Amino acid sequence: MADKRPESMERITTPELAQAFIDEQVAALKAQIGDKKVLLALSGGVDSSVVAALLIRAIGKQLVCVHVNHGLLRKGEPEQVIRVFRDQMNANLIYVDAVDRFLDKLAGVADPEQKRKIIGAEFIRVFEEEARKQEGIEFLAQGTIYPDIIESKGVKAHHNVGGLPEDLKFDLVEPVKFLFKDEVRVVGKQLGLPDNMVYRQPFPGPGLGVRCVGAITRDRLEAVRESDAILREEFAANGLEGKVWQYFTIVPDFRTVGVQDGVRTDAWPVVIRAVNTKDAMTATVENIPFDLLQHITQRITHEVKGVNRVLYDLTPKPTGTIEWE
Ligand code: XMP
Repeated sequence: MADKRPESMERITTPELAQAFIDEQVAALKAQIGDKKVLLALSGGVDSSVVAALLIRAIGKQLVCVHVNHGLLRKGEPEQVIRVFRDQMNANLIYVDAVDRFLDKLAGVADPEQKRKIIGAEFIRVFEEEARKQEGIEFLAQGTIYPDIIESKGVKAHHNVGGLPEDLKFDLVEPVKFLFKDEVRVVGKQLGLPDNMVYRQPFPGPGLGVRCVGAITRDRLEAVRESDAILREEFAANGLEGKVWQYFTIVPDFRTVGVQDGVRTDAWPVVIRAVNTKDAMTATVENIPFDLLQHITQRITHEVKGVNRVLYDLTPKPTGTIEWE
């Protein structure tokens, strides 16, 4: 069966094995693609980044990468995609600033599934528009990995562009489809991608959109983004990056009273979530040192606009899910 990992395929655990995989794939991609053009939705996540880096090695500027900024990415992510792929790897990268489009569509929508639908549908629409501007595209590259094929029920499918209309159904190029996540990371490292891209924690397709609970507003979304950046910075500085499976902040849609500089405030709480899991079906809460929690609380309440409290979610899965919506 074409979608089964060959039994003879050795697990990629070392730089040498990764290099052998890269050499083999680059040759295969060259043979498959020839002088044609390939389109790729490049989110900056590890899977699409590794696919981009492999294709850049194989076919250079015949690869057209499209990075859609939907306004729900983490702080610094769009900039990093541009820096790594356009500036360092000299890729043919189209950056689409679709922030207003997404946020306007999402305005006033509080239902989580409705939010997900809007984000997914708008993503396809933006990608389709970019695809139509290109001439001579014959292939579509995707960062499908083996767990996507064998249907891991826990971690939900990341952005895929399977919803494109019939006339844009290109032949697929999926060079990492037989790799497990840890193998994709070893290959990414060998391809020279930065560590914070290669060892990135899982990030849902709808991004910060599902962490800005309820109807998304620009100011509350900014509070999610800024508090998330502080949490990530502190986890990195305190040896928790790479140790904790997934960690992020949530900003619910209500305010409570507080006091700052002798003045009463009416502001949002920020919730910290930090969990460990094997398959995202169940999860345990990370035991973060109390003094670190206090330090993060101090930073978030003083540096993030519109926030006066920080809470730590102690709920395992079950009964809570990992995300809040
Ligand atoms: P839950 O919240 O269901 O999350 O315990 C399990 C894992 O899935 C991720 N997640 C998503 N990933 N699209 C995605 O691509 C989504 O809509 C989505 N919702 C949750 C979540 O971050 C966690 O890793």
